[in-house]
Amino acid sequence: MITYGSRDKIFLLSGKNYSYCMYVNRMGILQHLYWGRKIAAADACFLKAQRGVAAEPSEGDRNADMATGGMPQELGSFGRGDFRSATVVVRRKDGAAMSRFCYVSHKIVKGAVPLAGMPCVRKADETLTITLRDALSDIELDLNYSVSEDSDILVRNMVVRNAGKEAAEVEKAFSFCTELPDTCGTRSALRLAGAWASERKPIVTPIAEGSLRIESLCGYSSHAMNPFLAVLSEDCGEESGECYGFNLLYSGSFAITADVSSEKSIRVQGGVNDCLFGWQLKSGESFVTPQAALCYSAAGLGGMSRAYHDFFRENIIDPKRVYVRRPVVINNWEATYFDFDNEKLCSIIDAAAQLGVDTFVLDDGWFGKRDDDTSGLGDWFVNKKKLKGGLKAVIGHCKEKGLKFGLWFEPEMVSEDSDLYRAHPDWAIGKAGVEPCRGRNQLVLDFTRREVVDYIFETVSKILRENEISYVKWDKNRDITENYTASLPADRQGEFWHRYTLGFYDLAERLTKEFPNVFFEGCAGGGGRFDGGALYYFPQIWTSDDTDGLERTKIQWGTSVCYPVSSMSCHVSACPNHQTQRTTPFATRGAVASLGATGYELDLTKLSEEEKAQVREQIANYKQTDELVLKGDLYRLSDPFCTNYFCEMLVGKDKTRAYVVGERFRGDPCDHDRVLKLRGLDEGKTYTVKELNVTASGAALMGAGLFYPRLPDCGSWIWHIEEVR
Ligand code: DGJ
Repeated sequence: MITYGSRDKIFLLSGKNYSYCMYVNRMGILQHLYWGRKIAAADACFLKAQRGVAAEPSEGDRNADMATGGMPQELGSFGRGDFRSATVVVRRKDGAAMSRFCYVSHKIVKGAVPLAGMPCVRKADETLTITLRDALSDIELDLNYSVSEDSDILVRNMVVRNAGKEAAEVEKAFSFCTELPDTCGTRSALRLAGAWASERKPIVTPIAEGSLRIESLCGYSSHAMNPFLAVLSEDCGEESGECYGFNLLYSGSFAITADVSSEKSIRVQGGVNDCLFGWQLKSGESFVTPQAALCYSAAGLGGMSRAYHDFFRENIIDPKRVYVRRPVVINNWEATYFDFDNEKLCSIIDAAAQLGVDTFVLDDGWFGKRDDDTSGLGDWFVNKKKLKGGLKAVIGHCKEKGLKFGLWFEPEMVSEDSDLYRAHPDWAIGKAGVEPCRGRNQLVLDFTRREVVDYIFETVSKILRENEISYVKWDKNRDITENYTASLPADRQGEFWHRYTLGFYDLAERLTKEFPNVFFEGCAGGGGRFDGGALYYFPQIWTSDDTDGLERTKIQWGTSVCYPVSSMSCHVSACPNHQTQRTTPFATRGAVASLGATGYELDLTKLSEEEKAQVREQIANYKQTDELVLKGDLYRLSDPFCTNYFCEMLVGKDKTRAYVVGERFRGDPCDHDRVLKLRGLDEGKTYTVKELNVTASGAALMGAGLFYPRLPDCGSWIWHIEEVR
């Protein structure tokens, strides 16, 4: 619900469990008042009297401008007394960049406000738009806030509009800014940092005076840093205490910053990375920033995660695809790499059919001239020398065996040794006369250019139209360098990164619309583009190239801080693991993979009879629990980063069923017989834990708990829990 009190000029926005409050002060500045547990309109007036007015200069104060430096604000401006980092910087034609944005008007509309060409929240109850204006530059800002009664997520973005007569240059335009007051407690920040094969590991650091900045400069959200930051209060734990989440629904180069002022309030803001950014606005033109999903949780990190999971499933991921039962796939990448022919693929398909797998996904190497990673990208035509009878032969074999067929593409890339590059060398990103940096021997296509996106749309569509393909894996295997496009003049090169991202969204939008029955899986050299923007198009994303039974627990744990388990592709692969060289039990790899959209990524023809029996069992188990993976609530029970165990639990929304998966990492003579308290059950219900033959109340399972099982190194367990009626 959104209310405006015209006497006090207070905006009060309330969602499921939170309220967010701001007011227009005497100077016309939009001051931040409060964000936390739900409060009533009358409380907002008290907050204004106590917090807001205290920060305001008194009437007629000649030095009032300098007071803006200490005010908690909804927007940081530059050069007019606020010395913390700005949310927006616009340079006028005369070179001046100072601004003070003041309230002009507001409106409250039903529903969400769609963003053309960018991922955005698909539904909301109401949206508040507050228009501010800088009198010096005639730049106007629309600050948008969307709320839903049933959600703890507040969606924000900003539109920058040139309402003046002369052109201006936007040098920075973040999506949101908010201020968390000093609570006399130490606060810390949680980020999801990583690397290839080691994505989204939670790192917690103190927040202190000065600036904390997380960012990507790679042209996409990146393996190294997810576009997400959480600010945690001192008492924040897994299921208790306060935390604030900031998640950018954006897949390009981003930045999120937390600045602590001398007044000790924390200004958190973020958006398109302002490094090298510039956007020209002629008179009447606007720049629309991506949306950000802000979350307040009084139920710790777990509460925040569940709020994000519901939000991504209900409001971001395509409703036609989000709850589609995920096919159990066999992907041939780690089974064959580039080295396959019809015979090899058919043998894997045959084995898959006997084991109950649903879909065969043909990975890299089926097109152009592609026997290694030095050639072929961009030539999306089947290599008939390698695949006799083309895709149709493989698809025909799948059909005969009762499997569906999926195909890998890397639409944004080009190899120099390809027909596409020979015909259009200028379509690759780069600057004439500068030797391009190569990554995995490939270059990136210039998706700022419409004709390049059109061409890729046509060639990929042709393959999808002419063949029975139900699943597409969309990969991206290198960072963007050179950051230059010949399609823009010298003074507009600052638009490059964001325009590239818009090109990616354009292709994703067109392909997912054109082929509504195809299921799209995102991927970027593993989980390098796992963000809220990508989830808008890809309901599922390849979580990481690291499928090791131990390391994966950490990657999936970290990913689940924001993203639902249904969005994580989780495969069982061979041992020794190709990335870590570690050997873990087959059952453990299966158990960990069952906490996501499960699949296989190994040569099924090489499995022993015992392993084959396990695959059958794993698939049968998965088909019993996939409803919980798609729709359940996640509770993280045992942290793989700081304990000897990993344990997570999925609970159905009606609390009649739950599914627990755990793993013990190392033998430790003294760590068994410890109590594992379950979570999320109904205290008043009675449940059975099938594997333990235990019947107990929800209160007992959560309050007294169960013992961790005794297991060898990397041993795992699965518990199916059901209500006894
Ligand atoms: C990187 C992906 O993460 C892998 O799963 C595989 O598709 C390769 N690319 C293929 O080149």
